[in-house]
Order: sequence, then C-alpha cells, then structure tokens
Amino acid sequence: MENLEALRQELIGAIEQAEDPKALEDLRVTALGKKGKVTGLMKGLGAMAPEERKEAGAALNQLKTEIAAAIDEKSKTLETAALSARLEAESLDVTLPARPGPAGKIHPISQTIDEVTMILGDMGFSVAEGPDIEDDWHNFSALNIPPEHPARQEHDTFYLPGERDGHRLLLRTHTSPVQIRTMLTEKPPIRIIVPGRTFRCDYDATHSPMFHQIEGLLVDESTHMGHLKGCLEELCRTFFGVEDLPVRFRPSYFPFTEPSAEVDIGCTREGGTFRIGHGDEWLEILGCGMVNPKVLENGGIDPEKYQGFAFGVGIERLAMLKYGIPDLRTFYETDIRWLKHYGFSPLAVPNLIEGLNP
Ligand code: DAH
Repeated sequence: MENLEALRQELIGAIEQAEDPKALEDLRVTALGKKGKVTGLMKGLGAMAPEERKEAGAALNQLKTEIAAAIDEKSKTLETAALSARLEAESLDVTLPARPGPAGKIHPISQTIDEVTMILGDMGFSVAEGPDIEDDWHNFSALNIPPEHPARQEHDTFYLPGERDGHRLLLRTHTSPVQIRTMLTEKPPIRIIVPGRTFRCDYDATHSPMFHQIEGLLVDESTHMGHLKGCLEELCRTFFGVEDLPVRFRPSYFPFTEPSAEVDIGCTREGGTFRIGHGDEWLEILGCGMVNPKVLENGGIDPEKYQGFAFGVGIERLAMLKYGIPDLRTFYETDIRWLKHYGFSPLAVPNLIEGLNP
C-alpha cells in the first residue's frame, strides 16, 4: 500500500510535468497500458488472499480512476495552451496596409484628351460638344466645302440613310462642324475646344474608321494670327514637355480657314530612335488658320466686326508620338495587356505636371 502511494505520487507528478500530448500519451501507456505499472499490479491481485485482494483491488481501482482523470485534465490544459499559442502566433495585424486590388487604367486616348483639355483650359477655353451623327450642311457646306469640292471626296464619308432639315445625314468626318453649331448658339467672344469622335472610311496602321480629334475655335473682335501662333506654340511645348520645342507654321489650305497653316514640330530620327524636340527634321501635327469670313457668316457672326482662329488636331497621333505607340489600330483592340502597358493610373497626377515642371 505504501508502494502504491509512492507510485501515485510519481505518476501524478509526471502527468503534471508533461509538456505535450505525446509525453502525456507515453505516461498513459506506462501507467494504464497493457504492460503498464497499474495494469501489472492489477494482474497480481489474483494471487492474493481474498481479504487482501478486496482492499488492494479497491485501492488500485481508485488509483486507476485518479490517473485517468489526471491525464484527462492535463490533456485539456495542453490543448488550451496549444490553441492560445496558435492564436498568438497567427494573430492578424489589422494595422497593416491592405493589399492593392486590381486597378483599372486610363486609356491613352482619354489621357491625351485630358492633357490637351487641361492645357487649353488654362488658356481660357471651355469644352463644347456636338453630335457624332451630323448632316452635310454642318459637316461640309457651312464650312465652305461645297458639294463638288474635292475635300468632300478626301474625307471618305460614311453616309447614313435619311435627312435632317433637307440635308443628308452622315457620321461627322471631323470635329469642325461644332464650330458652326457653337457660332449659331453663342455670341462672341467664343473660346471653345471640342474633343470628340470622328469617322472616315479608312483603315491601316495610321488610320482607323473611328478616331478622335480636338477642335479649337476662338472668335473675338481683334483676334489675329499672332494669337493663333502663341496659343499653338504653347500647346505643343507644354504637351510634349519640351520648353524650347521648335514649332513651324507652314502655309497650307483648308476651305474653312484663310490663311491656313499646318504646324510642324522639330524632331530627330538619329540612330534609329525617334525624339521630339531636338534635331533638324519636321513632323506635321495639326492644321489651323484664321476662320474664313464665309464660315463666320454661316455661323451668324458679322465678319466685318469679328475674326477668329481655329485648329484641329488628331488625338491618336498626339498619343502615338508622346507615348511611343507604333500602331493606331491597337487603340481599339481592347486588349487588356496593351492597356496595362500603355494605360495610365487613375490616381496619378496628370503627366502634364511633369511637362510644366521638368
Ligand atoms: N478639320 C480638319 C481635318 O479634319 C482639321 C482642321 C484644320 C481643323 C484646320 C481646323 C482648321 O479647325 O482650322 O482635317
């Protein structure tokens, strides 16, 4: 019986000291397993005298129950400790910044429209709009392009069935008809830009049946060609971010302006790399001129009192030049990999700032 008490203390002590479930299981086997110490003692009961056996049997059973309960208890303690340790180790740091989610990109066309709008907006121009479906009076006749004029053929027009006020419907071939619409609804001084879609039946690496232009129109009493030059030089230099960008006005012809000019900017193709701003080559980028008096008249404005300047520029061309995009058709292929590469972060400060503060 004394031995039993010693065994009890030894086993209970060891159970309390057990550090993990494995050690506890080993102790269970040592005490209560088939060849365990308590099991061994129980086997010895058979050889005892009945009186002795009764007493020893009761004591052994109690010991067995006690040990089983201690193991059970310890097992629960170990489980709780393990859980707390795991919770401690795997706890979330809610103050960590969130992982960035997939973000959309601004299409280079939208970006370029925004940049040009910001530059001209700073000069006091506001944005005007007109319909994509035009009639041939606004798109051609009012702009001094009569039916037999070769410019009508050059424009490869998409005509639509139907008429508006006796004029054939078409998809506008340029943003210039918005000049007429604005002059008919607003009194001078007029200072507008018109970003928008335009359409011509044409398709290759530099032409698409749908493309974008920005039109500019300024009408006031004393507007002259110097204003036109200053405005467009500033636009080109700021847009391309080259302060001393060479800008050349080359005489040209448009039915709706007189005189007319095309604007070229300096560039170089030295060593196979194309660069804007330095070198002795010229690149045409836009058309402009002083508004033809006939166009002012068609817009209901007295050409004796007012004069104006106008310009038109292709957005895709500007974007291709500034951002090195080689093929115009890729703008409309809606290839998400292309957009990831050439697109702009919606959260970034517009690139224009870089241009203004190099
Ligand atoms: N509308 C012309 C085109 O699409 C571009 C243009 C040239 C617009 C000269 C103008 C201008 O306002 O003055 O080719």
